[in-house]
Amino acid sequence: MKVRKAIIPAAGLGTRFLPATKALAKEMLPIVDKPTIQFIVEEAKASGIEDILIITGKNKRSIEDHFDSVPELEQNLAAKNKTQLLKVVQDTTDLGVNLYYSRQSHPNGLGDAVAQARSFIADEPFIVMLGDDLMSDKVPLTKQLIEDYENTHASTIAVMQVPKSEVSKYGVIDPEGEQAPGLYNVKRFVEKPKVEDAPSNLAIIGRYLLTPEIFDLLDTQKPGAGNEIQLTDAIDRMNETQRVFAHEFKGDRFDVGNKFGYVKTNIQYGLTHPEVKDELKPYIIELAKELQAEDKKAPKKD
Ligand code: UTP
Repeated sequence: MKVRKAIIPAAGLGTRFLPATKALAKEMLPIVDKPTIQFIVEEAKASGIEDILIITGKNKRSIEDHFDSVPELEQNLAAKNKTQLLKVVQDTTDLGVNLYYSRQSHPNGLGDAVAQARSFIADEPFIVMLGDDLMSDKVPLTKQLIEDYENTHASTIAVMQVPKSEVSKYGVIDPEGEQAPGLYNVKRFVEKPKVEDAPSNLAIIGRYLLTPEIFDLLDTQKPGAGNEIQLTDAIDRMNETQRVFAHEFKGDRFDVGNKFGYVKTNIQYGLTHPEVKDELKPYIIELAKELQAEDKKAPKKD
């Protein structure tokens, strides 16, 4: 069966970005000028996804507004002949994919957010895309997972090597040989293990291709790490009854879910942005020189 549908869970509280996320959806924070969730929708479209369900919650109305038309603004830009800006605005509604929205009433965890999509997905394989991870590669990661599925017809979870010291922030796999280069069989999926207990440094990153059997497992999934319904725990149980693979991503990943990653991503993207790059690069070079000079002057700490 063709993979046509995707879910973007966006109902989390975004506590790592407080106070910005007190009244603002984390997914609307921009990378220079584009909200992070727009990058995710564009990756879905570039991967051949046709229908996307965004799981929203409180303070998330701006996501729906962002992808809706604003006739007054468009008329204003057209009247002033600002054709380029008009296109930028129109591109957020003429996406070439269908968007649907559903609310998760309590942020009980990623597993619970995905469970809200049961009737939307029905009995098809589908993709889950997390807005915290922006991916860049020749072939979009979502498309890479779909290509795996076309060969295996099995659930496939995207993973990436991370420094061992960081594994406890992630779900981690216990790999057991390769089905194909970069496509692992998995013994266990463990959510947020302690560094010393982690079975590998292959961490689950924000793209999943799942078969619909996951919904029955989510229905009976008990809260796990952080007292939340964890998608990883349900995937680990699914792995007992059907094959679940892990696909190692080798492209660039930008983690915009934490402050440092967010700032770095803005700089990286700014360095390629046509309106910003020419000023940003010399600015960074100058700043680096000043910082180096400051470092040299500062007394050394032991
Ligand atoms: P995170 O664990 O990153 O949580 O969720 P968060 O609330 O977004 O951010 P912090 O940690 O408080 O800063 C991973 C993904 O799962 C979604 C989030 O929106 C995010 O995309 N999620 C999480 C839900 O949709 N519902 C939940 O109950 C929990």
